[in-house]
Amino acid sequence: MIVLGIETSCDETSVAVVDGKGRVLSNVVASQVAAHAAYGGVVPELAARAHLENLPAVFEEALAKANVSLSDIGLVAPTAGPGLIGALLVGLSAGKALAFARRVPLIGVNHLEGHLYSAYLKTGGEPARAIEHPFHGLVVSGGHAELVRVEGERIVPLARTRDDAPGEAFDKVARRAGLPYPGGPIVDRIAARGDGSRYPLPVGRVSDGSEDFSFSGLKTAMLREFERRGVDGSPLDATDLPGDLADLFASFQRAIVTALLQRLEAVHEREGIRRLALSGGVAANSELRATLSRWGEESGVSVLLPERSLTTDNAAMIAWAGLLRFRREGAPPLEAVAARSRWPLGTA
Ligand code: KG4
Ligand code: ZN
Repeated sequence: MIVLGIETSCDETSVAVVDGKGRVLSNVVASQVAAHAAYGGVVPELAARAHLENLPAVFEEALAKANVSLSDIGLVAPTAGPGLIGALLVGLSAGKALAFARRVPLIGVNHLEGHLYSAYLKTGGEPARAIEHPFHGLVVSGGHAELVRVEGERIVPLARTRDDAPGEAFDKVARRAGLPYPGGPIVDRIAARGDGSRYPLPVGRVSDGSEDFSFSGLKTAMLREFERRGVDGSPLDATDLPGDLADLFASFQRAIVTALLQRLEAVHEREGIRRLALSGGVAANSELRATLSRWGEESGVSVLLPERSLTTDNAAMIAWAGLLRFRREGAPPLEAVAARSRWPLGTA
């Protein structure tokens, strides 16, 4: 079985070819970061147009790199949601046209489900790792923070963010400091030179006893710290920051990692986590990876970290999640698949 994955939910245009064993035969990603950089965030209308422009070449390159032709494709798996509706429609419509013309099945993939299983994928031509149930999944990205328990067919949501996603907090705080978009990787590098224990910042907890995440208080605290230091959003050189600011960014990153770790610990205490699959763009963060690995060793949890190239949006994870779903429940009729801006994990 050869699966063609298509990802256009946000600002990455990606097409991938994955085989029945989860081998990534190709995974081409065209980033639109440059197109949105001037606006400090993703502009939906620009994103949709750029997907339309990029998709044909990305598609050709993915087939060529995988050394497959159109007639080899047995399943088409575009992202159907959640995401920017205009952006989603580009990839989904292309996928539908292909599935219709080639008379092959199509699965509309939940983008978050793509992230969720991405820790099981390997690059370098190796088959995917075997999935053992139950496992817990922590998806942390620019749009989402979701902690779920996966029991075979069923995905049980345990916690999610009430306000900002962690990646969004990285991006917004960096932007307010005058650092370029996306802020996550830049803050990651700055924090490596700073002292994360220097400034105790609020680690958001919601007050109703749930394990939900909240990052808006932390963001506000950072904006106050910037104000006090006269950091007003004029461009900053990330490679040449005063030590005090490096410490502040390191403390900010520490607060995000601590918030995530505290929720994991609470859930582990309550229901015992045997395996944790980390995923999403923020899963590229060095401190988060190191902290969760250490925690896993100390608490007997097997922590699966995704390969860094598979943390941010890519079509390989979409193809793989599409194939897993196809094997569980087959494909619906083509006309039943619609793009959805909202689509919580664990719902049909
Ligand atoms: O998964 P993704 O590509 O898109 C969404 O589905 O949202 O995640 C992008 C997010 C951005 O907010 C970016 O700043 C963040 O992931 N990110 C990081 C790192 N690399 C990317 N955040 C923290 N540390 C990183 N190294
Ligand atoms: Zn994503």
